[in-house]
Amino acid sequence: MYNPAENRYSSIAYKRCGASGLKLPSISLGLWQNFGEKDALEKSKKVIFKAFDCGITHFDLANNYGPPPGSAEETFGKILKSDLMPWRDEMIVSTKAGYTMWLGPYGDFGSRKYLLASLDQSLKRMGLEYVDIFYSHRVDPETPLEETMGALTHAVRQGKALYAGISNYPPEIAARAFDILRDNGTPCLIHQPRYSILAREPEKGLFELLLKSGVGSIVFSPLAQGMLTDKYLGGIPDDSRIGKGSQFLRKESITPELLAKVQALNEIAKKRGQTLAQMALTWVARQRAVTTVLIGASTPQQIEENLAAMTASPLSDVELAEIDKIAPVA
Ligand SMILES: NC(=O)c1ccc[n+]([C@@H]2O[C@H](COP(=O)([O-])OP(=O)(O)OC[C@H]3O[C@@H](n4cnc5c(N)ncnc54)[C@H](OP(=O)(O)O)[C@@H]3O)[C@@H](O)[C@H]2O)c1
Repeated sequence: MYNPAENRYSSIAYKRCGASGLKLPSISLGLWQNFGEKDALEKSKKVIFKAFDCGITHFDLANNYGPPPGSAEETFGKILKSDLMPWRDEMIVSTKAGYTMWLGPYGDFGSRKYLLASLDQSLKRMGLEYVDIFYSHRVDPETPLEETMGALTHAVRQGKALYAGISNYPPEIAARAFDILRDNGTPCLIHQPRYSILAREPEKGLFELLLKSGVGSIVFSPLAQGMLTDKYLGGIPDDSRIGKGSQFLRKESITPELLAKVQALNEIAKKRGQTLAQMALTWVARQRAVTTVLIGASTPQQIEENLAAMTASPLSDVELAEIDKIAPVA
């Protein structure tokens, strides 16, 4: 029987999400990988319990996480049922719909039909009555934005989600989405973009928009799926995301150019007394517009290592300039 650590709120910081009343932990845990059908339940539990024991209250899911799609929500549902449900009110659980989930025209993109049916399926898989955040996972160029945002609003009014969010929306469309959601009376809580030393797109207008609009952000793949660690510098370990055969990160990504950048970044991290993973997270968290940094983890040790990055000394102007030189905003 799991009992969370009593001191779980003693060492992690919580930051207000935009102009909302909700605070999120400096680090959130995503279940995109490592929590699917073929991942051992006991291993998944250990990672989730470690996170919760450290004050990580926010768990990020989506309908399609697995593999296969849906299985991460099932795993999370099992863990909730066996262990975590007594602490439901201490947790923020999010899910999304927007990528391909089932066959036919109603299992993909952003129609009201897809989003609301998918949310019902997600709640069933997790055994929950509501999620805290429900996202449109990506822009649907063929569905009116009013319809997609209207579906989020409806989910909130139904009580099946407490807040609405969007993910992977470029600034121009995000700005319109914020207006629609505000007019609907269900303001956008949060935007979820990709952001790391190797993927700096949000610096080109999105962060500015979020600050201006009072919308928070949860930035995903801050370690570029593990490439911003030292693990691939000496080859491809069997127990790494690439070694395990993930369909989302292939060995072809580990090019000599990438390795040269990672090696140079690793030297800066060493001089700071951090691991490269930690420096990459300290770097992401430096942005005022970032509410929480959304990591993945395959072991409890990674969670501990990554959390330490949140209390590290800030990067100096010299260090930031060195990093800019290695990985400039494209
Ligand atoms: N909205 C979207 O479209 C979208 C897209 C992608 C992801 N996401 C969300 O973002 C979450 C995080 O994405 P991500 O998994 O790509 O994040 P990430 O933090 O960039 O990568 C996580 C992976 O890096 C490795 N790692 C983590 N900490 C480490 C450490 N200290 N030392 C060495 N290796 C370490 C682990 O891989 P190993 O297996 O190699 O150990 C871990 O699974 C997802 O779970 C999901 O919730 C959202």
